Amino acid sequence: MVKKVCFLIVGLLVGYSIIAYTADLTARIKIDTERKIGEIDKHIYGNFTEHLGRCIYGGIYDPGSKLSDKEGFRKDVLEAAKGLNVTILRWPGGNFVSGYHWLDGVGPKDKRPERTDLAWQTPEPNTFGTDEFVEFCRKLGTEPYFAVNLGTGTLDEARNWVEYCNVKDGPYYAELRKKYGHAEPYNVMYWSLGNEMDGWWQMGHKNADDYGKFALEAAKLMKWTSPDIKLIAAGSSNFYGGADPHGWNRIVLDYLKDYIDYIALHKYVGNRDNDYYSFMASTMDIYDRTQIVEGQIMEAMSKMRQPRQIYVAWDEYNVWYRARGGAAARGRNALEEKYNLEDALVVAGFLNAFINNAHIVKMANMAQLVNVIAPMFTSETGMFRQTIYFPLALYANNSFGVALDAFVDSPTFDTEQWKQVPYLDVSVAYNNGDVIINVVNRHMTDNIKTKILSQTGEFSGTFTVHEVNGPDIKMENTFGSEPIHTVKKPDISVNGNSFTVEFPAHSYTMIRGKLK
Ligand code: AHR
Repeated sequence: MVKKVCFLIVGLLVGYSIIAYTADLTARIKIDTERKIGEIDKHIYGNFTEHLGRCIYGGIYDPGSKLSDKEGFRKDVLEAAKGLNVTILRWPGGNFVSGYHWLDGVGPKDKRPERTDLAWQTPEPNTFGTDEFVEFCRKLGTEPYFAVNLGTGTLDEARNWVEYCNVKDGPYYAELRKKYGHAEPYNVMYWSLGNEMDGWWQMGHKNADDYGKFALEAAKLMKWTSPDIKLIAAGSSNFYGGADPHGWNRIVLDYLKDYIDYIALHKYVGNRDNDYYSFMASTMDIYDRTQIVEGQIMEAMSKMRQPRQIYVAWDEYNVWYRARGGAAARGRNALEEKYNLEDALVVAGFLNAFINNAHIVKMANMAQLVNVIAPMFTSETGMFRQTIYFPLALYANNSFGVALDAFVDSPTFDTEQWKQVPYLDVSVAYNNGDVIINVVNRHMTDNIKTKILSQTGEFSGTFTVHEVNGPDIKMENTFGSEPIHTVKKPDISVNGNSFTVEFPAHSYTMIRGKLK
């Protein structure tokens, strides 16, 4: 398995010559349809839209643009977003939500007040609000997921918003929705109790006890208004020096366990030091943090009045490090990260981690949908798909069913933080006799010849192969040029219980075919 560079010294009577030869790296993936991790929840292919930079205004919503429909939604963005099969869409933030008053964003547009958003230091015109967001979700065919303001907001604001969205008729806010032209309730089923409330950067930041108590009261009122809604607690946002994410999660779970269905975690990674292998290994953290929180969930559930499963929602994840500080993180062009091939491989690593924890991770939302740390990027005259678009689209359109616990025997690498990281990062989904094998070859220079074996049943027929790769790990896409994209490779004809594939260096490959 280990790369062997051997120097064969051949002694000759007349002297010595040195012949160098290289043996290819090899690996094995063993698939057993009986080794099930759990059902893959379609909501792991979620996304996120925040009032931030050009995500909403100039991204999904651009009234007056030649590229928009009559309601003001960018048609090109909508079409490209459909290619991502977005299953659930979080809104309106993010840090923005902790200063957002939803009533500012409903009713006649000329009566809506302009405000200053302090999270990203920009004017907020409020011309896009609840009704527009729900309309966008319908056009996209996705499930809306709202976050309430538990920073500067009140308990009443939270429960009134639920009433506006979900109550058919009668009370004041349901009638207000009707008055504004929306007779039927929206039935928004997913609501998060604030955003990153553990962070000092959050408006109305609280300690875990204060958040737990406040969120509990909000949860009660929201559930009493619309009993079937699912609630998501704001878990730890990220690892920052001095923070105690595990302590936060334990306390919050203890307060909220009888009301919540998920606890939200966030993760952003980057390659500041230009250390390729550390960057490739950075998604290993998803496994550790998921496992730690799973244990904490078990502890909280053991104290529930009526035991019910709580799940993990990674409701913000992505690569984000370039547009992270100073001017790049403020104003109209905030967070306009440009992605390259190595970022796309890391995104595939995130998705493998969610699938490999499918029993407990039941939601994940790439942050964000367009322009702001996003798979799509617009200008006034067009758009392009960033490198990270392509792995996400392949997973979100294929990897459903049951996640299988594949055995992977791969050569490994070490980084300062992570040891014995396999070059091959693998997840496997099994769906009605179809097996979907996702493989990232993290090796920077070498292909890995891999034998794929079935432990239960036979592979049969034509297997399709799709690959995301490129000549250079730093290669980016731009307007009119998407050199990093999905390539359909020649099909493989497979019959029997094994086949061999060579995964190219720095690539993501998806293989799909029958296993019965
Ligand atoms: O997605 C960008 C920001 O990252 C979000 O507003 C916030 O929740 C997180 O810190």
